[in-house]
Amino acid sequence: MSEPTFRFRVRRVGFRHGSDAELAAMHLVESEIESERFPGAEPQPLASYMRYARNLPSLFDDHTWVADLSDGTPVGCGACWSNSAGDVGHMESYVYVRRPWRQSGVGSALAREVLHTAIDEGRASISWSTHDAIPAGEPFSKGLGASVGRVNRNSELQVARLDLDQLDSWIASARSRAPGYRLQFWDGPYSKQLRGDAASFHHLMNTQPRDTLATGDILIDTEHVAQLDRALEEAGRHRWTVFVRNPSGIAIGGTEIVFEPWAPAMAYQRNTAIDPAHRGLGLAKWAKAEVLLRLRRERPAVATVRTGNAFSNAAMLAINDALGFEIVEVRTEWRLTVNSSN
Ligand SMILES: CC(C)(COP(=O)(O)OP(=O)(O)OC[C@H]1O[C@@H](n2cnc3c(N)ncnc32)[C@H](O)[C@@H]1OP(=O)(O)O)[C@@H](O)C(=O)NCCC(=O)NCCS
Repeated sequence: MSEPTFRFRVRRVGFRHGSDAELAAMHLVESEIESERFPGAEPQPLASYMRYARNLPSLFDDHTWVADLSDGTPVGCGACWSNSAGDVGHMESYVYVRRPWRQSGVGSALAREVLHTAIDEGRASISWSTHDAIPAGEPFSKGLGASVGRVNRNSELQVARLDLDQLDSWIASARSRAPGYRLQFWDGPYSKQLRGDAASFHHLMNTQPRDTLATGDILIDTEHVAQLDRALEEAGRHRWTVFVRNPSGIAIGGTEIVFEPWAPAMAYQRNTAIDPAHRGLGLAKWAKAEVLLRLRRERPAVATVRTGNAFSNAAMLAINDALGFEIVEVRTEWRLTVNSSN
């Protein structure tokens, strides 16, 4: 680290209760990081970012900091939060520094705040992500004493290159391998009746590989589902869900796709999960084939679908590779055990 050629201060700001100026500073920093990761991508509009912050579900506590110069120019920001529906011994976090102000101690100053908060609150571990487009993240993370918890890939599928015969054959195959099962499509926020199914679908995500992240399960309830929906909708996002139901009508999994109106050519394939007792029947392939065919029909503006998976998730990668997803980013999750010597 070289001697800083500028003076900065780190100040605590609000997220859920952040002022317009505080949220604008964080949004500026985060948008620049996003465009380093995905050059040319449409940034989330500030108004959407603010509405998400102000509707942050109650299960997340929030601690946020901005680093700025004496004239108020933001040079970095950081955050950490725990999830009251999950492993309360753990905090997720991030530290971002704008490119021109790197290697001058801003990141370390922000990381110190995160770490002290975790220590003060008695948390046992913290995690954060680094991205291959910003290689400085790796030595920075190692310098803090963290170890790699899980390595993930973000990958993209070009809708125009979908193999429609393959999708049809997946649907036909699942119908014969899993007789009596059916799919239910849902457009938008969950109805009150569906919130229980949405919560159990979310619980199934606990079965995805966690490698050495060593975090606990997240078990949201129906009130959390409603709050997560409100935050999603208030930010202007829209979601399609396909629930998979067994012959008794019980939801045993599903998949979901999220749309962002400021990036109409992109859709995000988010959670996909099937209850372990119903795996290996072609149900995930069926749900994905169904939602992609609908996307092609009803959202012709969407050219690309992006998704993220752990490299260790053999079953999910087998499906996504067969669909034609190609890697666009490697995201590494780091884990740091918190103790008073940090
Ligand atoms: C990933 C998941 C959704 C797959 O559900 P599924 O209904 O069993 O999947 P399908 O039966 O439709 O297809 C699985 C395909 O993956 C492949 N596959 C399955 N297990 C595999 C393994 N261990 N290694 C390599 N490929 C594998 C096979 O090609 C199989 O298709 P086939 O049986 O037609 O040949 C399920 O394992 C799951 O819920 N995992 C936990 C949640 C999760 O990790 N979600 C993704 C997070 S990004």
